[in-house]
Amino acid sequence: MRSVLFSITLLLFCVLATAQEKGRSPEVVSPDRVLKVKFQIKNGVPNYSLYRNKQAILLDSKLGFVLKGPPAMDKDFKIIDSKQSSFDETWTQPWGEVKDIRNNYNSLSLTLQEQSGLKRKMSIEFRVYNDGLGFRYTIPQQENLKDFVILDELTEFALASDMDAWWIPAYGTEMDSEYLFRHNKVSELKEKVHTPLTLEGKGLYLSFHEAALIDYASMTLHNTGHNVLKCDLVPWTNGDRVVASAPMSTPWRTLQVADKPGDLVTSYLILNLNEPNKLSDVSWIKPGKYNGMWWGMHIKTHTWEGGPKHGATTENMKELIDFASRHKLAAVLAEGWNEGWEGDWTVSGNFNFTKPYPDYNIDEISSYAKSKNIGLIAHHETGGNVLNYERQLDDAFKLCAKYDIHRLKTGYVNMRPAGEHHQGQFMVRHYQKVMEQAAAYKIMLDVHEPIKDTGLRRTYPNMMTREGGRGTEYEAWSTGNPPEHTTIIPFTRCLGGPFDYTPGIFDIQFKTEGKFRVHTTLAKQLALYVIIYSPMHMAADLPVNYEGKVAFKFIEDVPTDWETSKVLQAEIGKYVATVRKDRNSSDWYLGAITNSEGRTLEVKLDFLTPGKKYTAEIYEDGKDADFNTNPLPIEIKTETVSGSTRLSIVLAPGGGTAIRFHETQ
Ligand code: NOJ
Ligand code: CA
Repeated sequence: MRSVLFSITLLLFCVLATAQEKGRSPEVVSPDRVLKVKFQIKNGVPNYSLYRNKQAILLDSKLGFVLKGPPAMDKDFKIIDSKQSSFDETWTQPWGEVKDIRNNYNSLSLTLQEQSGLKRKMSIEFRVYNDGLGFRYTIPQQENLKDFVILDELTEFALASDMDAWWIPAYGTEMDSEYLFRHNKVSELKEKVHTPLTLEGKGLYLSFHEAALIDYASMTLHNTGHNVLKCDLVPWTNGDRVVASAPMSTPWRTLQVADKPGDLVTSYLILNLNEPNKLSDVSWIKPGKYNGMWWGMHIKTHTWEGGPKHGATTENMKELIDFASRHKLAAVLAEGWNEGWEGDWTVSGNFNFTKPYPDYNIDEISSYAKSKNIGLIAHHETGGNVLNYERQLDDAFKLCAKYDIHRLKTGYVNMRPAGEHHQGQFMVRHYQKVMEQAAAYKIMLDVHEPIKDTGLRRTYPNMMTREGGRGTEYEAWSTGNPPEHTTIIPFTRCLGGPFDYTPGIFDIQFKTEGKFRVHTTLAKQLALYVIIYSPMHMAADLPVNYEGKVAFKFIEDVPTDWETSKVLQAEIGKYVATVRKDRNSSDWYLGAITNSEGRTLEVKLDFLTPGKKYTAEIYEDGKDADFNTNPLPIEIKTETVSGSTRLSIVLAPGGGTAIRFHETQ
């Protein structure tokens, strides 16, 4: 096993410092020397800028803090220490979209001190990678700054030119980040926006986000004019942003830089900026697919609460377990198993996490699942009543342990107490606590209405997947997800990490209340398993809609753990073709999808091993397929291909193609 293959070249050439830098701005370049960060103190104000070769990407961008009480830490600074170092290692993910990740950067660490007054110190470390930049502040232990409240982080990203932004609002009417993406010039942005924020320019793609968000508030971005994006931390209800004590470090502010959109997807900078795995034994952590009655609750054929249409009954669970075991799924989700769903649970959040409904025979279901070697996914919807959940957390996990349950889906519809934001420090602490406690009980997590993903799965590999975006549920009870949505999220939401999008709806035109339906073709539902990365993917439709359908074989086959991933072709909002290689076999899988326009993509199969032959099992839009008028036709065929084959992939309007390449010789 090549596991943690550390080819560490920790060249600490901490030479330099003040003497050498006197009169000059400290700079640091990426290992390939294409990106360069320059730091300077201008009239006492710390600033940095970023260049790609000679092209300015960020102009002088301010750094600093406003504190509650003491004077702001934003001026009167000088550099008192400066160090450079380089780092190069390759580490192995226990599971993931890629197996081995190279972590190679040059860093510049600066310590600044106020020249008068309180003479407070603050350090800033920049890490420059070939694919972007990360930097963070550290407030060291010191006499004149101990416990403090941050009212504003002054970090700026001053764009050198106006660009197209793919964005969602940070505050609004939908549940947290569950928005369709909007597309405007940065100069037109009026609202505070969530990260990842992806910008598109000529041959330049940028994505702003953060890594390792721990005990801090989430960074949103605000256009303050002249294309300056400023950090705007999500507040507590009293307006404070972060409550902290020195020594402390902020999360990494990240900027991924790419020539084409696909290179943002295969940039692992955010994972690299997180700490290595802290869980010693990860053998119990297993990616895999799951099913449940979940879609039935959303399209109203079933209910969460007990009663005649109750979804999580002993009988239904056993059927789901049988289905899972026949069709290569790893686990069954038990949503609506526990008491508390009566009335408006989104308001009361009065759930009991240890009391099953009487028609959910937990002993019988658990031993049945075990006998079939199928895992159960417990479900803890909190209704946002976080204090109620925290009170029961330990007992709830003990119950999971008693029944040998190692997977849990949580949910945070609405927010209490007193309206703390999903992305504020209060909730950052809560999600962290649940993640750590889940790890202690050997529980893998799938979090809905989560804190945004900042790559903590590297440190806590039990943090499998999350929602934090507009998933399939919106197709059940809203105007839905128009075809372009899934051609945007790989380059925005998914840059943070895995997305439990819940694809796989076969009954596309189910028409709840005569109006709601899914906005894809059937073949596109299959392609989403490859396009959207998640170590836990749901076969989201009801089993009855899969029975006897040949197309279901693709969902059976498609892995959730990959050795490598590549984006072959993409234009954000229009189309994307992605291939991934299975971690446990020589199979490759391709997903290609389009927006509401039909199109043909010419794809070279040169990712396949040269000299080998593969059977391509192709699931494509059938004759006259169209997501709007005729979504169901699907053609399933096989062809023999090799690395020198060129495939024409024909996508219907709102359509897709899914292919399994199985090595035959
Ligand atoms: C919203 C989640 O996104 C969804 O998956 C879940 O079924 C409901 N909340 C109920 O917990
Ligand atoms: Ca949701």
